[in-house]
Amino acid sequence: MKEKIILTGDRPTGKLHLGHYVGSIKKRLEMQDKEFKKMYVMIADSQALTDNFSNPEKIRDSIKEIILDYLACGINPEKVTIFIQSMIPELTEYTFYFLNLVTLSRLERNPTVKSELAQKDFNNTIPVGFLCYPVSQAADITLFKANLVPVGVDQLPMLEQTNEIVRKFNSLYGKTLVECEGVLPDNENSFRLPGIDGKSKMSKSLGNCIYLSDDSKTVYEKVMKMYTDPNHINISDPGKIEGNVVFTYLEVFAKDEDFKKYLPELKNLEELKQAYQKGGVGDVKIKKFLYNILEELLTPIRIKRQELENNMDYVYEVLKKGTKEAQEVAKENMKEFKKAMKINYFE
Ligand code: TRP
Repeated sequence: MKEKIILTGDRPTGKLHLGHYVGSIKKRLEMQDKEFKKMYVMIADSQALTDNFSNPEKIRDSIKEIILDYLACGINPEKVTIFIQSMIPELTEYTFYFLNLVTLSRLERNPTVKSELAQKDFNNTIPVGFLCYPVSQAADITLFKANLVPVGVDQLPMLEQTNEIVRKFNSLYGKTLVECEGVLPDNENSFRLPGIDGKSKMSKSLGNCIYLSDDSKTVYEKVMKMYTDPNHINISDPGKIEGNVVFTYLEVFAKDEDFKKYLPELKNLEELKQAYQKGGVGDVKIKKFLYNILEELLTPIRIKRQELENNMDYVYEVLKKGTKEAQEVAKENMKEFKKAMKINYFE
C-alpha cells in the first residue's frame, strides 16, 4: 500500500446521501486509516458544471454542503488532501491534450455517459463539455498519478476510458502515466443502494434520498415510507424479501449486534428474513429496526456537521490548505508530462 496514490471525488450537485456513504465514503474512511503514499478527495465542480453550466450558484452552494458532509463523516484532513477541481488550472490544460487521444465515437459509447444522456433532456443538442467529461476525469486521475480510485460501480467505465488514454499516451510519448484500478464497496448490495421508493438507485433528481444531514424526524418519515411488499397487508401474511427496500437496506446496514440491541428476540438477518417470509412480522417493526440502525450511523454525523457549521472558517481553511497542496503537486507533475510530450520549449 505504501506506493499507493488514492484519488476520488464527487460532483457538487447537492448534499451527500446514504448511497454516497455506502457506495464510496465508507471505503474512503477505511482507506485513510491504512498505509498509502497520498490520498486525495476532489470536489469535482468543473465536472458538475458540464451539465449545470446554467446554474453555477447550485454548484457553489453544494461545495459547502459536500465539504461539511466529508468532514462530518470523518474524512480526516490531516491524512487526506481535499481540494476543488476548478482551482487546479493544470487539470484543464491536461484535458486539452488528452482530447487528442480519444475519438468522438468512443465517448458516445461510454456506458456512463450514455445512461446519463438518456436521463437528461439535452434534446439531441449535447454540450461538447458534457460529452468530454470522461476525458477530464482521466486528467483528474492521472495528473495526480493515482493508481487506486474508490468509486461506485457506475464509474467503472470512466476508469476503463482513463486507462485507454494512459496506454495511448504512453505509446505515443513514452512510458509516463500509470494505469489505475477501481476500489468497490465490499458489500455488493452497496453497489447501487436503491432509493426509498425502490424504483432505482438513490438519486437527488428522483427525490428518493435519505441525506446524511437529514434530521431524525425526516429519517423516520422516510423509512416509514419505504417500499416493502405491497401484498403484505396483514402482519400474519407471508412477506416477500425480493425488491423489499427495507431488506435491501438491512443487508447493507444491519450487523448481528444490532439485533441484540434493537430486536433481541431474533439473532440475525437470516432469522428475520425467515420470520418475515413465514408471516407474523409487520412492516412497521422492520422499519423501526432499520430506523434505529440508521440513526446510530447518522446521529454522530449530524452532531459533527452542526459543530462544523458553526465553525465555517475552519471548514474553508481545510479546503484552502488542501487546494494549495494539490496545486503544488499538479504543477510539478505537469512539468514531467510536458517534457514527455516535448512541449517544454524553454527547457
Ligand atoms: N464522476 C464522479 C462522480 O460523478 C466524480 C469524479 C470526478 C471522480 N473526477 C473523478 C471520481 C476522479 C473519481 C476520480 O461521482
